[in-house]
Amino acid sequence: MKHTRRLYATLVALAAFLIFSFFYTGHADARKQNTIPKVGVLQLMSHPALDQINKGIDDTLKKHGYIDGKNVKIEFQNAQGDQSNLRTISKQFVQDNVDVAVGIATPSVQSLKNATSKIPIVMGAVTDPEGAGIISNNKKPGGNITGVSDQAPLKAQLDLMKKVVPNLNTIGIIYTSSDASATSQMKKMKQLAKQNGMKVEVSSINSVNDLQQVATALTQKVQTVYVPTDNTVASGMKLLSSIAAKQNIAVFPAATTMVKDGGLATVGLSQYELGQKTGEHVVRILQGKEKTATTPVTFMQKGHLMLNEKMAKKLNIQFPDSLVKEAEKKGQIIK
Ligand code: TRP
Repeated sequence: MKHTRRLYATLVALAAFLIFSFFYTGHADARKQNTIPKVGVLQLMSHPALDQINKGIDDTLKKHGYIDGKNVKIEFQNAQGDQSNLRTISKQFVQDNVDVAVGIATPSVQSLKNATSKIPIVMGAVTDPEGAGIISNNKKPGGNITGVSDQAPLKAQLDLMKKVVPNLNTIGIIYTSSDASATSQMKKMKQLAKQNGMKVEVSSINSVNDLQQVATALTQKVQTVYVPTDNTVASGMKLLSSIAAKQNIAVFPAATTMVKDGGLATVGLSQYELGQKTGEHVVRILQGKEKTATTPVTFMQKGHLMLNEKMAKKLNIQFPDSLVKEAEKKGQIIK
């Protein structure tokens, strides 16, 4: 009698447990928690260009219905320009088993690449993926990495300098020697300027602390200064343009965000659009429509003219009318 009762109690408990677990795992929220995809975003540091790229990524995910905390988990981390932070965060993303990892700027992607050869990695604006040793063929990446390059329209940028600076024949370039993206662009611009019959003086810095001395020396030898999409220079752009202005020298940067920080003018890619393209890669990977190995790197062709009239006045420079009209039409003029 005692036995049957105990058996009966056990059966009831078992049934209750089965019913409970059936409903519990069947519960919508619980199920979503198990399958909600994770996206890790690793940004090298804060400067206006990288911040714009990150915003473009976020907005694009939203536009495609991926709402953070609801049906996707976006884990955003800023490495504050620090190598050991890059490593720690990359390892964390792998431990968290993110579905896609995004690296904003070359060093972030390099660090993610060192951490995993399995998880899909999307490059958020790497200037020269082949040159930086990230992938061996931009058209056929072959591994777990693809994404977007921010290779700037250098020819249009050189033409702009020629239009704005009268009798231009000597250009200075400042770049950070450890920045793969800047180094690649410096070399390309140097070659292009030389082909156009110009003299080029190149100076490198190791950190923002060198800017004062290096820029002061360089601006005394050249008619104008060009700066590539260099992460260190981008974060010290206000400083650089004010140092150069003291010598009455204009700075032509490779990115529009750097014109807002005191550069004179550029024909540059929209950093926000770079972020949108990066976000589109992420979305397609999440939807299972894209494989990193077979998806070519996205290059953007279209530069936008941006002029800084405030800076032009300070430097006593008159932009040609045609340029002003073009920039005004697109609202790309700082007054
Ligand atoms: N291209 C840079 C890199 O690969 C990142 C970058 C994107 C950037 N846009 C920029 C740097 C604008 C400076 C300015 O590291």
